[in-house]
Amino acid sequence: MEELRLVLLYVHLIGFALLLGGAATQYLSGRLRINPAMLWGSVIQLLTGVGLAAPLRGGEDEEPAPAKLAVKAVIALMIFAMVFFSRKRADVNRGHFLAIGGLTLVNAAVAIFWR
Ligand code: HEM
Repeated sequence: MEELRLVLLYVHLIGFALLLGGAATQYLSGRLRINPAMLWGSVIQLLTGVGLAAPLRGGEDEEPAPAKLAVKAVIALMIFAMVFFSRKRADVNRGHFLAIGGLTLVNAAVAIFWR
C-alpha cells in the first residue's frame, strides 16, 4: 500500500507541475488561453487525488482529515471545470485565467498547511 501511495503522490506532483507550469508559461507568453499541459494537469490532479484520498496509510490517525479532502476536491473540480469548458477558446478573460492559477496555489497550500 505504501508503494501505491508513493506512486500516486509522485504522479500527483507531476500533475501539479503540469497545471501550474502550464499556466505560468502561458501567462508569461502574453496570450491567455488554456493549453494542453493545464488540461492534462487538471485531469491528473483529480484522478490521483481521488486515489490518494483512499485509506492507504494503515491507521486512522494517519489519514488526512475528511474536511481537507472535501475542500481539495471542490477546488480541483472548480479548476477542472474552468479549464475543460474553456479549452477551445482562442482567449479567456484575465480574471478567469488568474483564478485557475490562484486556485491551484490555494489547493497546494491546503495540501501543505492543513495538518
Ligand atoms: C489542482 C488540484 C490539486 C493540487 C494543486 C494539489 C496539490 C498537492 C500537493 C502539492 C501535494 C503534496 C503535499 C504533501 O505531500 O504533503 C498534495 C498531496 C495530496 N493531495 Fe493534492 N492537490 C490537488 C488535488 C487533490 C484532490 C482532488 C485530492 C483528493 C480529494 C487530493 C488529495 C491529496 C492527498 C490525500 C495528498 C497527500 C498525499 C500523502 O501524503 O499521502 N489532492 N496535493
